[in-house]
Amino acid sequence: MSELAWGRRFLMCPPDHFDVAYEINPWMSVEVQADPERAAAQWENLVSCLRQAGAAVEVMDPVEGLPDLVFTANAGIVNGSQFVPSRFRHPERQGETPHDVRWFSCHGFRVEELPNSVTHEGAGDALPFGSVLLSGYRFRSDAASHAHLSRLTGAAVRSLELSDPRLYHLDLVFCPLDDRRALVAPLGLDRYGRKVVEATVPEPLLLDDDQALSFCANSVVVGTNMVMPACPPALGRRLEKLGFEVAVCPVDEFQKAGGGCRCLTLALDVSLAVAA
Ligand code: ARG
Repeated sequence: MSELAWGRRFLMCPPDHFDVAYEINPWMSVEVQADPERAAAQWENLVSCLRQAGAAVEVMDPVEGLPDLVFTANAGIVNGSQFVPSRFRHPERQGETPHDVRWFSCHGFRVEELPNSVTHEGAGDALPFGSVLLSGYRFRSDAASHAHLSRLTGAAVRSLELSDPRLYHLDLVFCPLDDRRALVAPLGLDRYGRKVVEATVPEPLLLDDDQALSFCANSVVVGTNMVMPACPPALGRRLEKLGFEVAVCPVDEFQKAGGGCRCLTLALDVSLAVAA
């Protein structure tokens, strides 16, 4: 068993301007506002949990009028020193991209863009496992973006169709744990997608529907440490048996916008394998 080769350095954005200002997924209701103080405290606690787990956290400036900029997982795809910015589906989030691009250009990344005819929402919809990049599509990213992603990064991309609108990004359905295992929520995948996961992941740990809908898959793995938005005892015991140390870090203020711990982070140390 070997630990994930990535997940020691993350980009985050503080929630100074976080808000539920529009509704672009089934969790968001403008009638259920986030409490700014609780959101700030939960975000700070997530930063300390990640640092305690051994990760480095870099921070980008928040921007007024872009409440979802906190969800840095959606900024784009990192591949070594290459950054492929997202093409957001919803106009509400499209204003984030110039800020993401600026951060990555100022930090030594080479920015390479997807054509504007496709949508793809970055690491929220694409996670590396072994030698492939698994990428979700349907609610946010288009299937057609995957060929472009593969051309730009050189990675072999395997497409997974997402099937439940509540699990609208791949990082709500799938979480790589090490080179053999991943958390998988069958609720969010169609039959073919489940087959792809079975063929890719030697030892999947299946989440039941309640675990999936409490965003257990939206966890951050730092070596053998896991930072999870929720972890029912039975799942915690399974993970501990496999050698993981779990820290639960509640981020329910962000769940009001449809996000968990993973969504609030973007791994900066990912290098995708080049397809054979
Ligand atoms: N409100 C955000 C949206 O709907 C939440 C993004 C969650 N991000 C994620 N990687 N799942 O776009």
